[in-house]
Amino acid sequence: MSFLKNHEKLERNSLLLLGFIIVTVLIGGIIEIIPLFRMETVIEPVQGVRPYTPLELVGYNVYIREGCYNCHSQQVRPLRDEVARYGHYSLAAESMYDHPFQWGSKRTGPDLARIGGKYSDEWHTAHMKEPRDVVPESIMPSYEFLLHQAADLHALDKHLKALTLAGVPYTQEMIDNAESDAMAQAMPERMDASGLQERYGEKVNVRDFDSQPAVISEMDALIAYLQVLGSMVDFESAKNVEDAGP
Ligand code: HEC
Repeated sequence: MSFLKNHEKLERNSLLLLGFIIVTVLIGGIIEIIPLFRMETVIEPVQGVRPYTPLELVGYNVYIREGCYNCHSQQVRPLRDEVARYGHYSLAAESMYDHPFQWGSKRTGPDLARIGGKYSDEWHTAHMKEPRDVVPESIMPSYEFLLHQAADLHALDKHLKALTLAGVPYTQEMIDNAESDAMAQAMPERMDASGLQERYGEKVNVRDFDSQPAVISEMDALIAYLQVLGSMVDFESAKNVEDAGP
């Protein structure tokens, strides 16, 4: 048969064979890899997951700037000991709006993927100020200066807009109100937070986070961020979570 004859040619010419192998592997690779570039084909949407509010986003930026990821991961693996220690294992959807994601692998300190709601704001403030005041054996650095640095809220609209390019579904209304939403979240006594809650949901934590009601510090932003980590999905009632398992 001529087909087999041709194949004999291939088998006798190693360079030609190499060429064909590369083409075959490339085709397979393209078919497997290209769909993964589209977020919606890899990550199952899970109810409750929303983009960060502008204030939480500032906190996320502080988290990255200070390099917290050098000591903390944000991914509870589906292993029995981790689930017993931290809570439900992380779902892909829970970090789908993190650009860049903070999964990490270095755990000098504990995983923070489910830190939201675990401690009070006062605990976080005291701990960030001087970790050894609350955990005597802690080796975490002090971040007291965050209390004295104003959160950078200007250009937040541009930041939100940039994230829409990466697929985060901020609406034009969210972008237009970014700065005032950030202020309203940390200063509910002085500003009306109803617009913020309309845009991001009733569950958004609206309060003064750092016990300094007159200023919006980087501590406010960081704690707002920490307090929402891992708390968006309601694991008690969300049936869809079972379907999204590994
Ligand atoms: C040099 C390593 C290191 C760095 C950098 C670091 N931490 Fe920690 N962190 C630790 C260690 C160790 C612990 C455990 C002891 C303790 O609670 O202080 C910890 C504990 C924590 C806890 C309490 C976790 C729990 O479940 O009890 C939080 C919250 C936290 N860190 C947040 C942060 C944030 C936010 C940053 C960045 C601003 C940061 N850490 C930077 C080492 C670090």
